[in-house]
Amino acid sequence: MAAEFPEGFLFGAAVGAHQVEGGNTNSDWWWWEHAAGTPCVEPSGDACDFYHRYREDIAMLAGLGLSAFRFGIEWARIEPAEGEFSIAELDHYRRMLDACHEHSVLPILTFHHFTLPRWVQDLGGFASSRFPELFERYCDSAARALGDAIGYVCTINEPQGLGWSGYVVGINPPGVKGDEVAARRAAEHLLEAHRRAAPAIRAHTKAPVGVTLAIPDIQYEDGATPGHGGLEVESAINDEFFELAREDDFIGVQTYTRIRIGPEGPRSPGSDWSAVSRDLVETDEVTQMGYENYPRALGGAIRRAWRSTGGIPILVTENGIATQHDEKRIAFMAEALDEVRKCIGDGIDVRSYIHWSLLDNFEWAFGYGPRFGLVAIDRSTFERKPKPSAHWLGAVARNRRLPTVSASR
Ligand code: BGC
Repeated sequence: MAAEFPEGFLFGAAVGAHQVEGGNTNSDWWWWEHAAGTPCVEPSGDACDFYHRYREDIAMLAGLGLSAFRFGIEWARIEPAEGEFSIAELDHYRRMLDACHEHSVLPILTFHHFTLPRWVQDLGGFASSRFPELFERYCDSAARALGDAIGYVCTINEPQGLGWSGYVVGINPPGVKGDEVAARRAAEHLLEAHRRAAPAIRAHTKAPVGVTLAIPDIQYEDGATPGHGGLEVESAINDEFFELAREDDFIGVQTYTRIRIGPEGPRSPGSDWSAVSRDLVETDEVTQMGYENYPRALGGAIRRAWRSTGGIPILVTENGIATQHDEKRIAFMAEALDEVRKCIGDGIDVRSYIHWSLLDNFEWAFGYGPRFGLVAIDRSTFERKPKPSAHWLGAVARNRRLPTVSASR
């Protein structure tokens, strides 16, 4: 049967460094997970011990039939103190990139995924006026050491939300509440950091460089009113990143749900972003994260990114569902990938579907409860067990087409 996804389209899975490596003790999140009074339900601890087990994981991903792996490097390890760069840690990440190439897996490397070295947080974190310059220097060193082995570079993961969550709702470090001025300052510095880091990285690599944005599918209904706090702030910051991205080589789209805005404001489940629910009650309508289970959101997000950047190439760098029921993950991917297929059919240059996540991992303040993984982990032995969804996505990747849905469904 004919393929439905173009030759070279990348099917893969993603992880974030802090969420899987384990023992990231020099990072601000490690401090935050152990500080009194934070919303964290448990510390990251050994996570998935990916720091030591990456070889098995990359071999497993390749064995499933996937052709791309998105993972991160950890600034807190590479620059453990200001201006001190660790050759040994850069060598560690070089070995990870080499392992990808040994298995013909394209590495999509994220330079920053939420965490900061503690010393950067102590200087004021994203709100420090030194942040862009420090980030540029770290990116320069890392790209100099690793650039020739990278497939794609993501500079900063989901920068649009970092100011609001750290300085207004206080659910990320440094845990400040209600300081919209600091949140705006953080956003400005993150924009500047990307602006400076992208050329610094390009100087050492031929890999395309871009930013990855959280883009929910925001659906305004008749009579919808503006003024929805974090949602609007993040959306406006995304618009600024979309503008910047016109100079980039690609844009990373990361989508989990839609948010419907009616005359009375947001009316989707889980749309009150300031109230992070910890009870993980999953229903047919709502995922473990409290979001609406709405896989078709991916189509709206891709179209928004395409329009807003004037049509630069798109990588879907994250998309997934937190669920205890793996058959829901398969159904979710089938609908999300159907949207990708339609977008490609409409002439949008979408180049990848990278599922979040390869492994059940540390979901930030929520801890290990939410299950986003294609692969389960035994938390006492670190044994990996691919779920049926992992094999399903591998088969889609091998055939470059979605399975035919039987007429009875
Ligand atoms: C983040 C991941 C996170 C995932 C699921 C994304 O916003 O990049 O770190 O685990 O969403 O919530």
